[in-house]
Amino acid sequence: MTGLNFDIRPMVSNDLGRIAKIETELFPDPWPMQSFRDSLKNPTGGGFVATSGNRSGESIIGYCLYLHAPGETTLTNIAVRKKYQKMKVGVSLLKTLEDEALQNGSDMVLLEARESNETAILFYESKGYYKIYKRKNYYNSPRESAVVMAHIINSGISSESAPEPLKV
Ligand SMILES: CC(C)(COP(=O)(O)OP(=O)(O)OC[C@H]1O[C@@H](n2cnc3c(N)ncnc32)[C@H](O)[C@@H]1OP(=O)(O)O)[C@@H](O)C(=O)NCCC(=O)NCCS
Repeated sequence: MTGLNFDIRPMVSNDLGRIAKIETELFPDPWPMQSFRDSLKNPTGGGFVATSGNRSGESIIGYCLYLHAPGETTLTNIAVRKKYQKMKVGVSLLKTLEDEALQNGSDMVLLEARESNETAILFYESKGYYKIYKRKNYYNSPRESAVVMAHIINSGISSESAPEPLKV
């Protein structure tokens, strides 16, 4: 147990100002506000926020966004404010997203991460995600390749339907 009390709830447009601020603290190439707006407005998309606080005010300490497609859900963004990292906020957001994906009929969750983002890759691997593909020079500022990762959430799908692990 971390001792940190927090809740997870669906993201609403009113949250986006605070989320965009956290985003700039954490990423070298932060999503612009419009990307958050578009993502939340997308009928196949949505997000969740982790909040802590009391009656005097709620603060957003983490968030994630997703897009559903037939059979799969893509985690498009996830972040936890620095001082709340390593307290299980990220894994709670990820589990909430996976439940949402299962309810939507997804067999797997996909995501991409910067190749150098070891913390994120270790985080995903610790939760059953594996590398399936490398997208060369995918990111800007700085230019860098992406690793695409997958996690099968529907144990009922056949092994042929699961993406092959990346050969290293
Ligand atoms: C990646 C991120 C969301 C993880 O969130 P978090 O709340 O810190 O992670 P959790 O506390 O839920 O960690 C769950 C598990 O992930 C692994 N993990 C998390 N951070 C780790 C780190 N720095 N090093 C190694 N393993 C780590 C551990 O196995 C951990 O379990 P443990 O606490 O029992 O050891 C967070 O580090 C973050 O916001 N990073 C900056 C933004 C970012 O890079 N987002 C991902 C973009 S692809």
